[in-house]
Amino acid sequence: MTSNIIEFILNNKIHKIVNPDPNETILNFIRIKLKKTGTKEGCAEGGCGACTIVLGELTNNNIQYKAINACIAFLPMLNGKQLILVEDLVSDDGKLHPVQDAMIKFHGSQCGFCTPGFVMSMFAMYKNNNSLTNEIIKDSLSGNLCRCTGYRPIINAAKSLNKKIDNDHFKKLKKKTINLLKKIKIKDIEVENNNKKYFAPKTISELKKILKKESQLKFLSGGTDVSLEITKARKEIKKILYLNSIKELDFIKNRNNEIEVGAGTSLLKFEKYIKKFYPDFEIILKRYGSVQIRNVGTIAGNIATASPIGDTLPLLLSLDAKIILDGARKRISMPLNKFFVSYRKTKLKKGQFIYSVKIPIYKKNIFKAYKISKRFDDDISSVCASFNVEIYKNQIKKIMIAYGGMSEIPKRAIYTEKILINSNFSENNFYKATKTLEKDYRPIDDMRASKSYRMEVAKNLLMKCFLEVKNEKLLRLSQ
Ligand SMILES: Cc1cc2nc3c(=O)[nH]c(=O)nc-3n(C[C@H](O)[C@H](O)[C@H](O)COP(=O)(O)OP(=O)(O)OC[C@H]3O[C@@H](n4cnc5c(N)ncnc54)[C@H](O)[C@@H]3O)c2cc1C
Ligand code: FES
Ligand code: FES
Repeated sequence: MTSNIIEFILNNKIHKIVNPDPNETILNFIRIKLKKTGTKEGCAEGGCGACTIVLGELTNNNIQYKAINACIAFLPMLNGKQLILVEDLVSDDGKLHPVQDAMIKFHGSQCGFCTPGFVMSMFAMYKNNNSLTNEIIKDSLSGNLCRCTGYRPIINAAKSLNKKIDNDHFKKLKKKTINLLKKIKIKDIEVENNNKKYFAPKTISELKKILKKESQLKFLSGGTDVSLEITKARKEIKKILYLNSIKELDFIKNRNNEIEVGAGTSLLKFEKYIKKFYPDFEIILKRYGSVQIRNVGTIAGNIATASPIGDTLPLLLSLDAKIILDGARKRISMPLNKFFVSYRKTKLKKGQFIYSVKIPIYKKNIFKAYKISKRFDDDISSVCASFNVEIYKNQIKKIMIAYGGMSEIPKRAIYTEKILINSNFSENNFYKATKTLEKDYRPIDDMRASKSYRMEVAKNLLMKCFLEVKNEKLLRLSQ
């Protein structure tokens, strides 16, 4: 049974919309239809955080609070969730939320344009953590920009919330909200509005039926890339196939020395898991967009986008990851380094989707990854480099190197690897290898960085990897 009605919770009631517009952003719905204008529009591309809202999601009989950018999420994606707006933070008796009180007490607002977004990011942080470290605060607020107050008062407001007992009205109403969320039976959704269609199957078998029946479908996962076609390129997407209602795609498994990540797994969930295997992977993910982006964005979306500067791609390539493709035909496995064809073109065939990514666990290897971007947080890479090396008795037994931002596709440095393999792990050999990078790559040249800058940085990162391994010490400004 499919339904053309989406249901979500707003103000402790189930809100229903019949055939919502699949291209309407949640932000426009809130501001124009609900006439709630606390949530602001700054950039309309996920970069400033002014539009931050919080979604409550049912997980293991509990509610998980996720800050997201309403400007780059579509209205039907609200199905089955609790929508929390800045206006909802004030309780019925008119009392401000502790987060709002803290912002006032510490003078965290001047013009006020960014304030609702900060308050919502802080609210999600407050609800999800008992104690707040500087790292949690920095991470939670890295997706919000302020152009007049300055960050110190805002950070001080956040710090003052540390170890505050959560006794807000959301806590008091939690049982009721959980019951309401359970009441919304997640159905297969099929919406049609003004010649635009939106499908949200809840199983892979239903997804495959849609793939057989329909053509010209655009897959949608977190939407952090797809949505910009509407908000920035001003296009229409006629047929959307939303993948993130499918629970079977949201998993992380670890077996046979391999981590398998389902296509629908959020980057934030993945970053927490990968930390113990490859700490540098987590460090790169912490600088990937913002919490708002990583709460919804997926590794499969990053792979399918095939951007030369997609951050997970060089890391996955140097780990020799495989992707599992599914669709109308049999499920197949493909090495990631065979997947990218040319600029933003992949081997994905019509009707095929990424089911999962498999990442080998190398017990003897050293894994390093570096991201160079103009701004430290919430910025796209100019160059991203990743090194996976096994050294035995000062000899390089295995080495896999990959770079992003150095060619029209993210790719391995095959010639440089050949020069280094079976050679001594020495400064001289690494220095010689830096020259070979010129054979491996013809860097892209754009507003982020010139090609000569990129090449210079790539060489320096290879030497940095050598020095960090040699001295068994991290050479990082942010450590
Ligand atoms: C503000 C902002 C900051 C960002 N920062 C970074 C950053 O630091 N580093 C970085 O690498 N990227 C960054 N991005 C880009 C984006 O977040 C990533 O590419 C993200 O991983 C995309 O995942 P998604 O789930 O949101 O994909 P979506 O937007 O849903 O989809 C992206 C593409 O993949 C396809 N797709 C999605 N899932 C599948 C699947 N399972 N099978 C086949 N095709 C699929 C879609 O059709 C679409 O073509 C940023 C984006 C924004 C807006
Ligand atoms: S308006 Fe800037 S992130 Fe949404
Ligand atoms: S208070 Fe003015 S932009 Fe932050």
